[in-house]
Amino acid sequence: MLLTGPAGLTALNTAYDDGRALPGFVAYNLETVQGIVAAAEAAPAHPVLIQAGAGPFRHAGRDPLMRLALDAARSSPARLGVHLDHGRDLDEITACLEAGYTSVMIDGSHLPFADNISLTREAVRRARDHGAWVEAELGALAGDEDVSTNATAVGAPMTDPAQAAEFVAETGVDALAVAVGNVHGFTAHPVRLDLTRLSAIREAVPVPLVLHGASGLAEDQLLGALKRGVAKINVNAELRRACLRAVQDELPTALPGSDVVSVWRAGRDAVTEAASRIITQLN
Ligand code: 13P
Repeated sequence: MLLTGPAGLTALNTAYDDGRALPGFVAYNLETVQGIVAAAEAAPAHPVLIQAGAGPFRHAGRDPLMRLALDAARSSPARLGVHLDHGRDLDEITACLEAGYTSVMIDGSHLPFADNISLTREAVRRARDHGAWVEAELGALAGDEDVSTNATAVGAPMTDPAQAAEFVAETGVDALAVAVGNVHGFTAHPVRLDLTRLSAIREAVPVPLVLHGASGLAEDQLLGALKRGVAKINVNAELRRACLRAVQDELPTALPGSDVVSVWRAGRDAVTEAASRIITQLN
């Protein structure tokens, strides 16, 4: 079931009020969409976001992947949102909203503050016409969204609490992605979040916070974030790694008979297993 209209934002705000978080799982193709949906169906009490966004569009094509994610959500009994992750382009935002996305991220984090405000404000205006909710980002995350690069947060601009308050008031966004030491992808050294800064942002900002780059984050860090207003957690590398390891394990058996279906099935089941583990952690 697709969480359209107010149901999508209600799911986010309810998680926020309860100290839980919605997982935003990145999907690239049929198998990752199916793997995520199967995990959501195994935990029917907990809404899940399928994130089919800019990076995956480059692989699968925007229209096919949008349709795939939306069809899968609509035909499942699970409570699912379909979310545009890291949208930087207003035309792309509009295309996703018109297709039926329940939420979009407008990522103006690379822009000067005033330009980020203008871009985000326009995305919010467009989303309102479609009953979708909007996530924006302030501060910047190190690392690549689709490939782990052992990034470090050192030198990446963190979110300033006072600026965050101004940004949310000026733009009317429904959720704010923050930079508090988090990075995209796996890292050689464990990531420590700046939980003091996160508490200050929570105090300053009246909307749920979003944590990108949750793969490989220690449980105490994750739970510390949930306690401080993070109500959406983005996970990608963790699912990619689980999928690839399962494919690697399956290949020796599959290769002699060119059994491609067994490889895809192994990848899909591994995505389900990893996503299920994370859904449990976040709730
Ligand atoms: P990870 O790859 O570190 O899980 O980050 C995912 C993410 O933030 C997607 O926007």
